[in-house]
Amino acid sequence: MNVLITGGAGYIGSHIALSLLQQNHHVLVLDNLCNSSPIALQRVEALSGKKLAFHQGDIRRRADLNRVFNSESIDAVIHMAGLKSVNESLQKPVKYYQNNIAGTLTLLETMKQHQVNKLIFSSSATVYGIPVKIPLCENCDAGNTTNPYGASKYMVEKILREVVDAQPELAITALRYFNPAGAHASGQIGEHPAGIPNNLLPYLFQVANGLRAALPVFGDDYATPDGTGVRDYIHVMDLAEGHIQALKNLQAGYRHYNLGTGQGYSVLEIVRMFEQVSGKRVPLDMRPRRPGDVAICLSDPSSAREELDWQATRGLEAMLRDAWRWQVLNPQGYVVQPVEGEV
Ligand code: NAD
Ligand code: UFG
Repeated sequence: MNVLITGGAGYIGSHIALSLLQQNHHVLVLDNLCNSSPIALQRVEALSGKKLAFHQGDIRRRADLNRVFNSESIDAVIHMAGLKSVNESLQKPVKYYQNNIAGTLTLLETMKQHQVNKLIFSSSATVYGIPVKIPLCENCDAGNTTNPYGASKYMVEKILREVVDAQPELAITALRYFNPAGAHASGQIGEHPAGIPNNLLPYLFQVANGLRAALPVFGDDYATPDGTGVRDYIHVMDLAEGHIQALKNLQAGYRHYNLGTGQGYSVLEIVRMFEQVSGKRVPLDMRPRRPGDVAICLSDPSSAREELDWQATRGLEAMLRDAWRWQVLNPQGYVVQPVEGEV
């Protein structure tokens, strides 16, 4: 298949690109590089021994999309391009709606114009808002979101459902990721957030490698076994494989699936496992609860197992080991290392 990945230079997209190339699909990437580096794609090519077609451009610009859709025939689109910081979305909601919603609308119009009917969309467990029931299954209430980022994901899902009603030839699957973590086992591609990390694991790694003094632990008085927040962390390569299964099983209509493991870990369990895996000690800084956080977010992943023939196979230890390898090999992320002797 010829598969276009929007946002394919990013953390999750680069791992999907690698999995697709390894399964002999042809991959095109459209990315404006606002939160990524083209070096990620060079490494994907080196790891797979195959070439992909990279187009630098923006999903909000029709001309950029047309350039890609005119360059070769496209069978399916995996739509990952988007902004993902919960905090930033609270400060700049218009930027988030513009990028995540308007960008998706332009993509849908372009797909229609070029008669491309297959779409996988990167959604998020954040669409469930404050969980009313644990574990979360796909027919649990969604939409009671707590920030513009989450709202943008929920609104796109709603738009996709409505578009499918109007265009029955479309086959669309939204995948609701729980907490993506880890890196490719080679340590060559992974996640490197710009600035101070918001998420637990990137912050933890920066403490372990001496870039930051201590890990803030947001709340130890939740109704969880050790009082700290519990999440369903999923290895990024399991996520990538989930997209391939979703592509294989695409059918006309709209569907959505949880991609999670169904297994939850608390902040303190993560820290303890990381200390074992890395041999590093992680100083903790106990803080009050972070506004907007929930005690437990956990998936029921059974629909994806039954309908997509997919389930996560990598556990927490593999996530931490692989992500730490990436961090040790690439402490600055994808910066070009100066060649010895160069000024
Ligand atoms: P990322 O920031 O690493 O990747 C997103 C990519 O999209 C980046 O390469 C960025 O440059 C690109 N991009 C952003 N806006 C664009 C635009 N207008 N035009 C073209 N390219 C654009 O993030 P990620 O973690 O790989 O996430 C990928 C997708 O998965 C996002 O849609 C995100 O919301 C969703 N998601 C991520 C998580 C998570 O915790 N990482 C959880 C749930 C859902
Ligand atoms: N946490 C800390 N210290 C930190 C960062 C996080 O204690 O420095 C705690 C949080 O309080 C929470 C847990 O670690 O209990 C996980 O927090 P993350 O920020 O890593 O992840 P979230 O569950 O808050 O959110 C993530 C993404 C969202 C996505 C959601 C999907 O950031 O974009 O997973 O469930 F929508």
